[in-house]
Amino acid sequence: MSAAKERARYGAEAFTDLKGNLPNPFPRILGPHCMKYLQEVIDSGLTSNMVDRFEKAFARELGVKHCIATPGCTPALAILAAAFGFEPGDEILVSPVTDYGTVQGLIRENVIPVFPDTAPGTVNFSAETIEACITPRTRAILAVHKTGLICDMDPINELARRRGLLVYEDACQAVFGEYRGRLAGTLALAAGFSFDSEKTLGSDVGGCVVTNDDALNERIRFMGHSRGGEMVPHFGRAHTAPGTAHRMTQCTAAICLAQLEIIRPQVARRDRLARLLTARLGEIPGIIPLPIPPEVNVYSCWMAGFSIDPRAFRCDAEDFAAQLVRAGLTGAGLGRYYLMPAALTFLQEKAARRVYPFSQPPASRAHHYGPETCPRARAFLENFIRFTTFCEKYEEEHVDQAAELVRGVASRNRR
Ligand SMILES: Cc1ncc(COP(=O)(O)O)c(C=O)c1O
Repeated sequence: MSAAKERARYGAEAFTDLKGNLPNPFPRILGPHCMKYLQEVIDSGLTSNMVDRFEKAFARELGVKHCIATPGCTPALAILAAAFGFEPGDEILVSPVTDYGTVQGLIRENVIPVFPDTAPGTVNFSAETIEACITPRTRAILAVHKTGLICDMDPINELARRRGLLVYEDACQAVFGEYRGRLAGTLALAAGFSFDSEKTLGSDVGGCVVTNDDALNERIRFMGHSRGGEMVPHFGRAHTAPGTAHRMTQCTAAICLAQLEIIRPQVARRDRLARLLTARLGEIPGIIPLPIPPEVNVYSCWMAGFSIDPRAFRCDAEDFAAQLVRAGLTGAGLGRYYLMPAALTFLQEKAARRVYPFSQPPASRAHHYGPETCPRARAFLENFIRFTTFCEKYEEEHVDQAAELVRGVASRNRR
């Protein structure tokens, strides 16, 4: 029998062994009305309209017409992939640096994720890198705002308009972040959000889709919540579409509603402290903080990070991060696994064997996944160090402390 696999961990469990002196997001700070809303759900005997209340409150705060609550962003984006009615073998252009949850629904719909490379010096793709990957089979662009840095959406939307493509967002890491004064999640046809326990608006699990499109809202509720079931007279439920039951629970909605009440000042604080950290890290020779583009006027920073210039140090990024952890920078580590074309090994294997949907048809051409597919993203992540523990508990003194720890490790390892 093969050795037991070490399974990926989730939520508070993933943070328990972290060492260091800086704040840890767990236990999470919860909104003061959390217990009151949970109590309402229980006292109502599960008849409360908490999900509806959360949907309305989130839509209002974001300034969109519709919010459809789900158990996470993975199901939110899965519902969207189903609701858009893509055909097997269609190609969807997806940011190459992201989480598996971004692509899971696409894969289940048998559509083919294609990963354009990142733009120079950043974690996000751009209109230029996207355009190079458009083929006659391309249907949509799924933009991920990695770490909270919002993609340069105006040129992406303009490109999509010219080429007849649909655009939607994975705004999981950018909740209430702003691009040119507009909120993440309102910059295209629809967006998915995550409220899982590690996220900025953290509940136990949770997520949603938002859109201003009435027909899409209807389709998402029908396919995503009502299992594609319609009431037929004298019969009952007939399933006229392959729907799902990706519904948010009332208790999750209660926590999300309480968290929504405290989120805006938390995001403002994250923005302020991430900018301060960027400035402090930028003063250290050989350290390249993640650049915050001018069009991102509120950086809802979910994860802080920086790159090391490998020519400046005697050690590589992995060693640098390990030394940071020993020095006390809680949660310092690599982000190499975010490189989706390298992380999706089952997809590489299917594409290499040309099994459905990589057979021709429905695919129109051969596909390949691997670290070399996106050389710029790969090179970026090779030297990138993130700290997963950046959160609303940070004070200015923690930013100073983090920067000093980086400075210390940098000095000890300088060539
Ligand atoms: C960019 C991104 N997309 C999708 C997801 C999946 O979200 P959820 O865990 O709510 O399904 C995550 C979660 O880490 C994420 O960071």
